[in-house]
Amino acid sequence: MERELALEVVRVTELAALSCARWMGRGQKMEADDAATSAMRLMFDTIQVDGTVVIGEGEMDEAPMLYIGEKLGTGSLPKVDIAVDPLEGTNILANGLWNALSVVAIAPEGTLLHAPDMYMDKIAVGPKARGKVSLDASVKENLEAVAAAGQKDVSDVVAVLLDRPRHQKIIDEIRAAGARIKLITDGDVAAAVNTAFEDTGVDIMFGSGGAPEGVLAAAALKCLGGDLQGRLLPEDEAQLARCRDMGITDVTKVLSLDDLVKGDDAIFAATGVTEGELLRGVRFMGKSKARTHSLVMRAKTGTVRFVEALHDLNRKSIIKG
Ligand code: FBP
Repeated sequence: MERELALEVVRVTELAALSCARWMGRGQKMEADDAATSAMRLMFDTIQVDGTVVIGEGEMDEAPMLYIGEKLGTGSLPKVDIAVDPLEGTNILANGLWNALSVVAIAPEGTLLHAPDMYMDKIAVGPKARGKVSLDASVKENLEAVAAAGQKDVSDVVAVLLDRPRHQKIIDEIRAAGARIKLITDGDVAAAVNTAFEDTGVDIMFGSGGAPEGVLAAAALKCLGGDLQGRLLPEDEAQLARCRDMGITDVTKVLSLDDLVKGDDAIFAATGVTEGELLRGVRFMGKSKARTHSLVMRAKTGTVRFVEALHDLNRKSIIKG
């Protein structure tokens, strides 16, 4: 994939973020998600790719756009897999909390796992601890590995995880090991990405969240030289069948970063919708100006760009309609 694509893709997440940010705190998550999805869909067709959505808003019969299998882009080469989450953290935005993002990953056709919409157990770390943690190891062993990799005490390691009753056992084990914890209401893509940036204050992410979000976060960590492993958690026969339909025969397998995102040609972009540790949220200035803060990166080169953009909303015909 040409490197110019990275800057095209960040325009997609910027527009989605701009389009849903005005819904912050309004308690209407569906409306916010629709705004982000429509904007992302619109912008994608200006991009020179022959893309297919492999992770999107749902199946064709449940999502009007950005559904799995939908074709995006101008139709010219390269052929790419596209993973989208126009608004990652619908509840976050609805309540005006931290770390709602608009997210896209693209990679050559056939290289992104077609993750079914179910839970996935995940572990994510930044570059220092890459190759040193495992979903098969105990929580204590993983915390000790992260501490050793970062040359610090376990008591200085901060684990981030979604605040859910299902995580109580992991929380108890982290506390018993003496590490610190940051519980988040939602948004495990941002949590996983944050493990790769020391100044966000988190070192490792544990726990289960959406499998599609797992693939998006894996694309980011591939660019950042970090690590993410996942294990699908099908809950019933229908979800098992879904795994088989998507070509996943052994659902108990620990999926490595390379199983989630093959090769090294992925591009990841995210724009902050609400404030976060890494990205600032959309800031509106008067009626016609807005500032966005995004992260865009390529796995091939490992270049990580933060893009701050000032938008004149009066001149964005794509927003005005
Ligand atoms: P949505 O944007 O779809 O609401 O997802 C938010 C999220 O917190 C994800 O980041 C996470 O992977 C998943 O939901 C966790 O699911 P659950 O809320 O069921 O624990």
